[in-house]
Amino acid sequence: MAAKLIDGKAFSQSLRGKIATAVACLKHEHNVTPGLAVVLVGEDPASQIYVKNKARQTVEAGMLSFEHKLPATTSEAELLSLIEELNADAAVHGILVQLPLPAHIAEKAVIESIAPCKDVDGFHPENVGQVASGEGGVVPCTPLGSLMLIKDALGDLSGKTAVVIGRSNIVGKPMAQLLLANNCTVTIAHSRTRDIASVARAADIIVAAVGRPEMIKGDWIKPGACVIDVGINRVDKLDGTGHRVVGDVAFSEASEVAGNITPVPGGVGPMTIACLLANTYLAACRSVGATAVDIF
Ligand code: GUN
Repeated sequence: MAAKLIDGKAFSQSLRGKIATAVACLKHEHNVTPGLAVVLVGEDPASQIYVKNKARQTVEAGMLSFEHKLPATTSEAELLSLIEELNADAAVHGILVQLPLPAHIAEKAVIESIAPCKDVDGFHPENVGQVASGEGGVVPCTPLGSLMLIKDALGDLSGKTAVVIGRSNIVGKPMAQLLLANNCTVTIAHSRTRDIASVARAADIIVAAVGRPEMIKGDWIKPGACVIDVGINRVDKLDGTGHRVVGDVAFSEASEVAGNITPVPGGVGPMTIACLLANTYLAACRSVGATAVDIF
């Protein structure tokens, strides 16, 4: 393997350590403990694992964790009424509703019902607009964590070419905005892009966020490029003994060509939760007018 491995697990551990120190300081100086409410509707096994990890790491960082597990039959009105309660609860500084939601609940209505100051996912249109126009706002966790890894690997990003593969509201679009704000020349590639391999091959930085197992091949990558794999895909093992988790990048070929590359697991995934904790800490600081410690 030619590429240098980007260790998101170690990076996120160090970030969570800084957050825990900042949280202790906020408690000491302002007598406030950041609180994160996570709402899970239904029994999707992958979502249950994420939610459990989030709750554990929230408590480890010295914050309060409020878990709300609702049955898949919960109505949209019931969910909206819970969010209204959480919006009004002074102990809750951050609210995260785990996506995807069951099909009978409109995601847009739910996201828009969360108070923008408690929207630690950064999905509310008010935050989306502020991030897009560079006026602050809550930055979505996965793009924020990915950007931190890219900057750690490459330093100043000015003038670099970046290709974001995938145009979701959660990752692709905000990722492109952040790279643009860091003076990259940014292309968003997607399922209708013509000759996506040669588009990708022009990039100094590739962020893969398509949700298709091992789609980005070694020959899509410019030698020495920085490759960030956001994908978390479960695929059946060939011998029929369960499943394995792979990214959107064909890691073994890509790591022969790239300069830096994130593994799956252990790359972007742990950064997402650490950034969620960071956003919750920042929301708690804002709620009491405290100056946040620079954790990034
Ligand atoms: N489901 C997968 N990723 C995310 C995320 O970042 N936030 C929420 N709320 N749900 C998700």
